[in-house]
Amino acid sequence: TTPLNTAAKAAGKKYFGSATDNPELSDPAYVKILSDSTMFGQITPGNSMKWDATEPSRGTFTFTQGDQIANLAKANGQLLRGHNCVWHNQLPSWVTSGNFNAATLSSIITTHCGTVVGHYKGQIYSWDVVNEPFNDDGTFRQDVFYNTLGQDYISIALTAARAADPDAKLYINDYNIEGTGAKSTAMVNLVKSLKAANVPIDGIGVQAHLIVGQVPSTLEANLRQFTALGVEVAITELDIRMTLPATDALLAQQKKDYQTVIAACKAVSGCIGVTIWDYTDKYSWVPSTFSGQGAALPWDANLNKKPAYDGIVAGFAS
Ligand code: G3I
Repeated sequence: TTPLNTAAKAAGKKYFGSATDNPELSDPAYVKILSDSTMFGQITPGNSMKWDATEPSRGTFTFTQGDQIANLAKANGQLLRGHNCVWHNQLPSWVTSGNFNAATLSSIITTHCGTVVGHYKGQIYSWDVVNEPFNDDGTFRQDVFYNTLGQDYISIALTAARAADPDAKLYINDYNIEGTGAKSTAMVNLVKSLKAANVPIDGIGVQAHLIVGQVPSTLEANLRQFTALGVEVAITELDIRMTLPATDALLAQQKKDYQTVIAACKAVSGCIGVTIWDYTDKYSWVPSTFSGQGAALPWDANLNKKPAYDGIVAGFAS
């Protein structure tokens, strides 16, 4: 059957990609599939470019792990997405508990995003500069950044990222913005306000951590309302989980669901690519977070393709 990046390109998309993580790179059978650029034209580091990994103490930057992923992408001829500059999670305690005033936290964000994005200048297709800024009701998440700076923290981060790598596409990335609703409307309003203020913003990342049988019926319409803002859209962290065990019926529904998501991206010209949040159930984040759930990815834990794989191919061919 058709390799997935080949299928994506034939459908007019820039890439089909996968997240990966450093510990997995010691698994040769895993790396062999990951490194096939006809299968994955893009990779995203699942953890190693995050704040706790890159600036564990103030002003001390470590890029060893992130560089390993960047070098892998380079060696394989794959695009690289940077993930991420500013997020409330995996944030070192020196940031969360520092009690910094607005001016100091602003300069901390500028230094962090400027240094990390600058380190990878020229190597990154797109950066998730701001990750998960919203609560599910569309209000801003009350994290240390928002509580100290209000929504200005978003423009501070984007401006620093643009200065550090003018060629990288700058994204805001979030979950539960697949269908229309309060959270997607909040994203629309944020992007409008950033554009009105001439803050650099190039893309909206739709994470798409979905549940079998529950792909929102408004997905395609929602992708269209995002691209109508004059930004590109990418599906950045796709997985579709189920309650275990994985029965034939659930795997068949999962195949349909993958096809539906891919077909929606295909139908919207500004939806430029799709990334799955790792490719095999062996390394999925799902079971450790949602007890009793899993089997969310197109390859099983033995690195065998599941029906979902054919759903992806069918979605790109639709
Ligand atoms: O690095 C420590 C290690 O030192 C320690 O021994 C070990 C013991 O638990 O934990 C390690 O940290 C783990 C880290 O992944 C690195 O492996 C954390 O416990 C674990 O919580 C963390 O999970 C990551 C999660 O983000 C954290 O929020 C997942 O791997 C990663 O896939 C996931 O990715 C997020 C995206 O960034 C944003 N969108 C949602 C998505 C899924 O949660």
